Amino acid sequence: MPLANTETPPPGGAVRLAAGNSRERYADLLEDARSRTHALVEQVSEDDMNRVHDPLMSPLVWDLGHIAAFEDLWLCQRGAGLRPLRSDLARVYDAEETPRADRGELPYLRLGDALEFMAAVRARALEVLETAAFDQPADVLNHGGFVWDMLVQHEHQHNETMLQTLKLAPAGTYAPARRETPGDPAAARLDGDLTKVTGGIVPIGDDGLRFAYDNERPRHAVELDEFEIDVLPVTNGRFSEFVADGGYARREWWSEEGWAWRSAEGVERPLFWSEDGTERSFEREAALDPSLPVIHVSWFEADAFARSRGLRLPTEREWECAASWDPELQNKRRFPWGDSDPTIEQANLDQLGFGPAPAGAFSAGAAPCGALGMIGDVWEWTASHFDGYPGFGAHPYPEYSEVFFGGAYRVLRGGSWATRPAVIRNSFRNWDHPYRRQIHAGFRCARSR
Ligand code: AVJ
Ligand code: FE
Repeated sequence: MPLANTETPPPGGAVRLAAGNSRERYADLLEDARSRTHALVEQVSEDDMNRVHDPLMSPLVWDLGHIAAFEDLWLCQRGAGLRPLRSDLARVYDAEETPRADRGELPYLRLGDALEFMAAVRARALEVLETAAFDQPADVLNHGGFVWDMLVQHEHQHNETMLQTLKLAPAGTYAPARRETPGDPAAARLDGDLTKVTGGIVPIGDDGLRFAYDNERPRHAVELDEFEIDVLPVTNGRFSEFVADGGYARREWWSEEGWAWRSAEGVERPLFWSEDGTERSFEREAALDPSLPVIHVSWFEADAFARSRGLRLPTEREWECAASWDPELQNKRRFPWGDSDPTIEQANLDQLGFGPAPAGAFSAGAAPCGALGMIGDVWEWTASHFDGYPGFGAHPYPEYSEVFFGGAYRVLRGGSWATRPAVIRNSFRNWDHPYRRQIHAGFRCARSR
């Protein structure tokens, strides 16, 4: 009964040891995360690993060292009381200390040394794992496997960041082998349709039974009016109509802040679009495919598009309600389709397609309200600022979420093609500045009834 569980879970993360959270399972998850990290950059030259491809992003090799430093910090130092493996590196890999733009100047490890450091940390993390106690409530980091899940998810999240860097790199830096993404284009006819979402008293946030980040908790009930939401994410087709309608020149469709940004940056179309109607993705430059969800737009562009159509962005509560709430059964789903882990028939996740699938391609992934593609393909901007839920408590450190609260960031939901499945669920909250476009972000629109 989801509404009953509205109290703050104990600070230990997962309330109970989820079935199957064994040492072998975490060893496998860590190994899976690491082999993906290596596979993603296997073909990247050493020079391209060390280079700053874009002032927005760290050199790829910084991500590698940071993944390892974070693992040493949380699994070995904080979780098991060991001394730092390399105390000289702590500052170099602290994301708070050195903003991305300055990381090219740091004495971070270059490729060979970074790989060695990763392997050395991993070896001692696996030793720690052999005796880690998941069943001691007083051990808030290890209890329920919390810090182990956090580590795996952190590495996955940096993979997505690395893919942003690789997309920004000059064409030719990266030519991924793309997996065929199955999908049924029949839903293209739903492009632009809205579906009704019954509001009511709706539970928002994680139920406290498995790993979740602090910002997803505690679960709490909110009251929502009935609203409508796009069945599909906004497509390239619909977004090019906005561009053709003079969308980037019509002041009345933009917020004041958005117009200032658009004017200062001279933005006229989504990132990676050309004036001649092509879109670049890694090494490929091809005619815009109107059936794909639009990607690499800022919050400001999403907001302007919505206004141009007499619509608005959904709030994050509306988004979560549309994705998760079954009003008939009064039941909240972990994913739009139910509680089972994502399959390739339900959502385009897990990176290996290296781009979005046609909007609405996964009918098996429909939410109770009929919306398609809420998980996977593109992160979806919402109207909401990133803030703590009522009763928020930072866990295990304020730098993960809390330092970003307060209005500078907008919330994104749903994950993208570049998100690994273990890091996405209906309650997951991502955030970024409203002017950022390198993230794999699109959007869908909503309206009040
Ligand atoms: C949740 C994607 C905003 O990249 O800043 C990685 C994830 N936090 N390492 C980020 C994160 C610490 C975070 N985002
Ligand atoms: Fe990080």
